[in-house]
Amino acid sequence: MLKANQDYLKLPGSYLFSTVARKQREFQEKNPDRSVIRLSIGDVTQPIAPVIIDALHRAVDEMASAESFHGYAPDLGYEFLRKAVSENDYKARGCDVEPDEVFISDGAKGDCGNIQEIFDKDCRVAVCDPVYPVYVDTNVMAGRTGTYDEKSGVWSDVIYMPCLKENNFAPQLPKEKPDLIYLCFPNNPTGATVTKQQLQEWVDYANRNKAIIIYDAAYEAYISEDDVPHSIYECEGARNCAIEIHSFSKNAGFTGLRLGYTVIPKELEADGVKLHGLWARRHGTKYNGAPYIIQRAGEAVYSPAGRKQLKAQVAYYMKNAAYIREGLAQAGYKVSGGVNAPYIWLETPDNMSSWDFFDLLLEKAGVVGTPGSGFGPSGEHYFRLTAFGSYENTVAAIKRIKEM
Ligand SMILES: Cc1ncc(COP(=O)(O)O)c(C=O)c1O
Repeated sequence: MLKANQDYLKLPGSYLFSTVARKQREFQEKNPDRSVIRLSIGDVTQPIAPVIIDALHRAVDEMASAESFHGYAPDLGYEFLRKAVSENDYKARGCDVEPDEVFISDGAKGDCGNIQEIFDKDCRVAVCDPVYPVYVDTNVMAGRTGTYDEKSGVWSDVIYMPCLKENNFAPQLPKEKPDLIYLCFPNNPTGATVTKQQLQEWVDYANRNKAIIIYDAAYEAYISEDDVPHSIYECEGARNCAIEIHSFSKNAGFTGLRLGYTVIPKELEADGVKLHGLWARRHGTKYNGAPYIIQRAGEAVYSPAGRKQLKAQVAYYMKNAAYIREGLAQAGYKVSGGVNAPYIWLETPDNMSSWDFFDLLLEKAGVVGTPGSGFGPSGEHYFRLTAFGSYENTVAAIKRIKEM
């Protein structure tokens, strides 16, 4: 009998952000006169920088004549962009990553979700708790996570690494032995980071245990402190144990344009099999390359004018982050994050549940945030606000929260 993929049926409830959006919609239907400010999902609000718009226009014009038209892009990305990534994101930081180890894609979410395909179904997966839900849900879809306990919100076959305030929201090395370790710094949702020394401990642990780290560096552009690594390849031995994933969404506002990349070093192996070749095969079979126009826009990110304009854009969001952080602290909330990341992580007052606080904030202040429990059991009693709104909305939201 024809059956749907049974692993998909194991996914609990609806996706976190759909629930947040539904609750906001219902509130607005009931209260059409109330204005609602969204400091919830991680989408950017500033327009694409002028230098990137110029690059887009030029690339569009190229498509209009037979001589400069571009059809299918190379599966693994255009050389001009792979080179720009290798030189600017890696070699300039002393990291040894060659252009042909960079796989261009249409964004980090797809890469974070798809990368598990090149590993065995029996791999043990370790994730931070709380966590960006994509890492867990895609492993559920792949049948790797065992059974779900509704009450605790825990999968039987996933190793959870709690990120608690006692450890500045950094995970501790797990007691059980994982095969695949998902790490994301600066972190979504907590906004926490690790120092280079701490990340080196993870690299050493992975090499000792023959585990592989999938390092999501989507928020790298927000790092402001010196001892926070921008890439896992700053650590010694990382080429033997780490895959790194990047996005153009948060540093350059490509959430709607779609561009990202994954680095797989040529020597990286799982049980004697080179993973670079497997990922190349996966890309070649299932993906026809990010659009030429968008890759040209990506190249402009690395131009001197691009860097300057994007630095200003990141600074704009980080001004919001500081405003939220300081405003909430003044109002008596316990807050963290917002220094190397556009996310502020706050403890709910009076030990309220994350969803109760969501409802209270929406009802009393007309502000939408994201309940920490949606990111995993250790996110309960926490709440995430993002700095990606406009400055005016951010100021208005904090004023309303203070007056609550
Ligand atoms: C940790 C993390 N990784 C990846 C992504 C997705 O990035 P992209 O827009 O490149 O798909 C997000 C988006 O919010 C994220 O928070």
